[in-house]
Amino acid sequence: MTHRYAVIGNPVAHSRSPQIHTAFARQTGEALEYTRIEAPIDGFREVASGYFAAGGSGLSVTVPFKSEALAMAADATARARLAGAANVLAVQPDGGLLADNTDGIGLIRDLTLNLGVGLTGRRILLLGAGGAARGVIGPLLAESPAALFVANRNGDRSASLATHFALAGPLDGGGFDEIEGAWDIIINATSAGLSGGEIPIEPECFAVDALAYDMVYGVETSFMALARGFGTRVHDGLGMLVEQAAEQFQLWRGVRPDTAPVIAELRGG
Ligand code: ATR
Repeated sequence: MTHRYAVIGNPVAHSRSPQIHTAFARQTGEALEYTRIEAPIDGFREVASGYFAAGGSGLSVTVPFKSEALAMAADATARARLAGAANVLAVQPDGGLLADNTDGIGLIRDLTLNLGVGLTGRRILLLGAGGAARGVIGPLLAESPAALFVANRNGDRSASLATHFALAGPLDGGGFDEIEGAWDIIINATSAGLSGGEIPIEPECFAVDALAYDMVYGVETSFMALARGFGTRVHDGLGMLVEQAAEQFQLWRGVRPDTAPVIAELRGG
């Protein structure tokens, strides 16, 4: 029996998820079909419910439907609840929907396993306070960094995000002008790079041997260019994309695919 999965979003035409999950299926010998679904902006729940009613087994959920995905599921993991968003839905044995969020673990695995960057005891600076930032704060804190500062153009937004996550670990938040000291790992979770906007961050913020990580892939963002200009090692978010997908695949199929060959395939290697 071929199980059916899809990525749902708007827009979704450029999603790499079908390529990734199809590669995982080939590698693990799982019989599944994986497609793309573009739902109308105001039609997520209807389209997703229809998909499951027609026998779909799971959905990857992308922008802008991650909070709605969490809201429609009968059950949710603690990490999805903490993030206030889900990037995956799975039909459980009792027929109910489970919502999970694998974005954070995808980032952690890419940093620690693929790039060999330990997070424990390090100073982590997270840029942005939107959905992308929110999804990774809990998992970052779980790695016990020495400090986590969430900096955002709208400093009130990042400060209130820090308050929301206060129980999960030590962190602080504020505007870009409130960033103090040097940081070992600087993660861009803003959409500034896509809109061409500049992030006003000073060279002093980058520790010697710092890693600059952009969650975006496939384009050189202004943040990447800025960090490169400071002589900092830069990495894009392609590994995170593949790792979060591998976690989804494991949730659905109970088997963990090997991510390295798929990352290499996507990089054209
Ligand atoms: P996402 O779900 O991708 O995080 P979002 O919720 O719309 O999308 O959040 C976008 C993030 O990018 C926000 O942190 C936003 O900053 P504000 O909260 O101040 O709006 C940030 N962002 C977008 N364009 C930016 C720019 N030109 N300069 C700096 N930050 C920018």
